[in-house]
Amino acid sequence: MNVMEKGRTGCGALRAADEGSVVELCGWVNRRRDHGGLIFVDLRDNDGVTQVVFDPQHPSFQAAEHLRHEDVLRVRGTVRRRPAGTENPKLATGEIEVGVDELEILNRAQVPPFAVNSDDPVDENLRLEYRYLDLRRSRMQRNLRLRHRIVKAMRDYFDSRDFVEIETPMLMKSTPEGARDYLVPSRLHPGSFYALPQSPQMLKQILMIAGFGRYMQIARCMRDEDLRADRQPEFTQVDVEMSFCTQDDVLEIMESGMRYVWKAVLGVELPPFARLTYDEAIARYGVDKPDLRFGLELSDVGAHFAGTEFGVFASVLGAGGSIVALRYPGGASLSRRDFDALTETAKQFGAKGMVWVAYAADGVKSSASKFLSEAQLAAVRAAANAEEGDAVLLFADARELAYGVAGKMRNEVGDRCSLRDPRAFAFCWVLGFPYLELDEETGKPAPAHHPFTAPAEGQWELMESDPMQMRAQHYDMVLNGYELGSGSIRIHKPEQQRKIFEMLGLSPADVEHRFGFFVRALEYGAPPHGGMALGIDRIAMLACGEENIREVIAFPKNQVGRDLMMEAPSTVPEQLLRDLYLRSTVPADGSR
Ligand code: AMO
Repeated sequence: MNVMEKGRTGCGALRAADEGSVVELCGWVNRRRDHGGLIFVDLRDNDGVTQVVFDPQHPSFQAAEHLRHEDVLRVRGTVRRRPAGTENPKLATGEIEVGVDELEILNRAQVPPFAVNSDDPVDENLRLEYRYLDLRRSRMQRNLRLRHRIVKAMRDYFDSRDFVEIETPMLMKSTPEGARDYLVPSRLHPGSFYALPQSPQMLKQILMIAGFGRYMQIARCMRDEDLRADRQPEFTQVDVEMSFCTQDDVLEIMESGMRYVWKAVLGVELPPFARLTYDEAIARYGVDKPDLRFGLELSDVGAHFAGTEFGVFASVLGAGGSIVALRYPGGASLSRRDFDALTETAKQFGAKGMVWVAYAADGVKSSASKFLSEAQLAAVRAAANAEEGDAVLLFADARELAYGVAGKMRNEVGDRCSLRDPRAFAFCWVLGFPYLELDEETGKPAPAHHPFTAPAEGQWELMESDPMQMRAQHYDMVLNGYELGSGSIRIHKPEQQRKIFEMLGLSPADVEHRFGFFVRALEYGAPPHGGMALGIDRIAMLACGEENIREVIAFPKNQVGRDLMMEAPSTVPEQLLRDLYLRSTVPADGSR
């Protein structure tokens, strides 16, 4: 056997062909076993795991007896084949082990608060408090490495299509994206504040005015809004803008980009993305971000209930509302109690109630059987494409509400029937959004995207007569029921931009204070332009098969916006506040 000095290698590198080599490994104690007089340690680093073996005759044996999980070691030793029958086919290094000649304990570790060497579930707050240990676990190592490859592939792709990456500042002026700003007080300008970017929207448009033509940035964005599974106060976008483009040009660039990334990172060849109008998405799926991994399309069955004596349906139809039907495959076998539980779920989504019809082999049952005629039951079944053994759920309400609830229940039924395969990827475009929507908090019309979006061709006239009917040149990219990204063709004429601000109720003084620099820039030869931003956290979440973006962010905030490891946000010394000309109005005990 040839003895070969191989030097330092990663813990995942050694194979049977390395037998006889003298190697050095550095890493953490993943596991220790005492066995038949020998001590086996699985040594782990970012590369993998190698079994190292301590012989009782060796001087380091005694030290090895006291090794604990997560101690940090450097070992030198000789690679040898594992005895026949003890190989581990699950491990890349499973054919070999390293007989230790030299051990150096580089550092000791406290007993970890959870097992680092397994992906067993651990309370999330504990994971976030000890994030450095959580990040050592294979799930987070895998996720963050995949995220890195996604971002790298994005950069490669946009570079190959002649986009220039340009950094925009963190300390800037408020950019409206529908959330609250995080503010940074200025020490040099008492009483004035920078805003952290909700997005680089206005600056990327200014880069078009500046003649860059094609811009992209892996951009950090900050929004002070309520957290959800797919929302963090800080997140990352692939932000893109291009000049002299049509909506189709932007869709082509972005769709090819996603196809490139999916192929490069996951080895998946994506088919062309489906395209739906906003109206179609609502009518067929009840939401503007439909999950197209499964069918279960909604249908309006109101017409079959004209003149019904069923009070709930009659009053909804009388008020111009809708009755929306959703098929539940195999739902006829549900018990009354199951249907009650489903009704409760629908109520949580805003429904006033739910009618169910079960088309069982031994007859049709319904929560409203007294009021539904044979003909109506048959019509509902046909409209919902239900077969024997299925159930149909009916939601009656004002149109928007009925479809909204039915859309959420469609996802619920999709989950219950295991129709939402996490390894399937159903991308689509949603186009032709309304320009305005009613703001949830104020009830006033607000841009569905942002105020820099251009109305659809020929829609300016509606601004005076019926602004809520205006459509926008705004598009969303959707994957598996999540909005991955949004964009639009922008307004590039200053007078049109002023008109939009005016429609949104901003006075000329407001416009000047908040957007004066931007409208002025439009006056100096702004080219027609458009763009889009994709949320990298959501893309990484779905590519990793995760259900929460915290699983693909190294240091996320928890559900109430706290960083549990750093303990942020935190109070600051009085002097720091004084330097910034600030005084807290919160009592010392934190009460409000
Ligand atoms: P929008 O506000 O739709 O558009 O954001 C684009 C994408 O960014 C992601 N995203 C988020 N991800 C995690 N946490 C959040 N709080 C969060 N908010 C948004 C989503 C979303 O689709 N300037 C425009 C884009 C443009 O018009 O070019 C913008 O920011 O994936």
